[in-house]
Amino acid sequence: MDILVTGGAGFVGSNLVDALLENDFKVKAFDNLSTGRMENLAGASKNKNFGFIKGDVRDFDAKILDGIDAVFHEAAQIDVRKSVSDPKYDLDVNVGGTINLLESMRKYDVGKIVYASSGGAIYGNPQYLPCDEEHPTNPISPYGASKLAAEKYIGIYHETYGIDYVNLRYGNVYGPRQDPLGEAGVIAIFLNKILNGQKPVIFGDGSQTRDYVHVYDVVAGNLLAMDKLNNGSFNVGCGSETSVNRLVEIISELTGGKITPKHAEERKGEVQRICLDISRIKKVGFKPRYDLKEGMKTVLDWINNKNKQK
Ligand SMILES: NC(=O)c1ccc[n+]([C@@H]2O[C@H](COP(=O)([O-])OP(=O)(O)OC[C@H]3O[C@@H](n4cnc5c(N)ncnc54)[C@H](O)[C@@H]3O)[C@@H](O)[C@H]2O)c1
Repeated sequence: MDILVTGGAGFVGSNLVDALLENDFKVKAFDNLSTGRMENLAGASKNKNFGFIKGDVRDFDAKILDGIDAVFHEAAQIDVRKSVSDPKYDLDVNVGGTINLLESMRKYDVGKIVYASSGGAIYGNPQYLPCDEEHPTNPISPYGASKLAAEKYIGIYHETYGIDYVNLRYGNVYGPRQDPLGEAGVIAIFLNKILNGQKPVIFGDGSQTRDYVHVYDVVAGNLLAMDKLNNGSFNVGCGSETSVNRLVEIISELTGGKITPKHAEERKGEVQRICLDISRIKKVGFKPRYDLKEGMKTVLDWINNKNKQK
């Protein structure tokens, strides 16, 4: 089977590319390298079943899909704050880019899309916790609105043209290859700061909670989506809530030192609490394998290895 992974040079995308190659798929990664990096694809590039195409979803060349059986759509503008400061850019990439892809899929008869949606952003401030897939969707940021709108277009292309789809609504994904200098990804950012002797910055009082899910579990969810799921939305998280203050405690336990964070003003567009009900995807065999401590160790190892190579 031939697969296209948009955003394939990114954090989730590149981990997914590796897993697809391990499962003997032929994989093309498509990315404009705005936040993705070719170094994430160093291993994949050695595989004869892998190819890379540099390009932008805002200007997608449909011919790329010639011979492709399914698309994993990871490419996106992912920074909530950027979506607040430049909502039009966020819309162009996240909605316009998805429509370009869907139009191209229709023309080239590509049967299935697995879409990286966001359980952390589309439900908005929860009316109950954990949020299941039937929870009302009331995003509070342009990013949440654009991720949700893309889900809606995918649903319309299913109804109109019969393209199969799976919306995977990720929690807060963390793990190796997340940019520790980026704007998203509190675990990578905190661990990197602490390893460099700096204080992590907590926005607000640190009581805000998230559902942290390891990237290898998210990749497993994507493989399940390919194989066992069709035409629906599924939360992919660990199913429990962890506060930022608790994250700092776990990092202290792991690194063996007391951490005194700095505090800054809370950020616009972010919810106070979120936790995902993952019963629906569990029914087809999804089981998160990483608890936070084990998961953080994989990030620490990755950052340490990266620093050694410098
Ligand atoms: N990381 C998370 O916690 C999280 C949570 C929920 C949903 N998601 C979704 O998962 C997907 C992957 O996110 P990630 O964390 O790996 O982020 P990432 O920034 O590492 O990956 C996104 C990739 O898309 C590429 N890209 C961005 N704009 C593009 C464009 N216009 N054309 C082509 N490529 C473009 C980037 O270069 C990057 O490689 C995104 O769709 C994101 O919305 C992520």
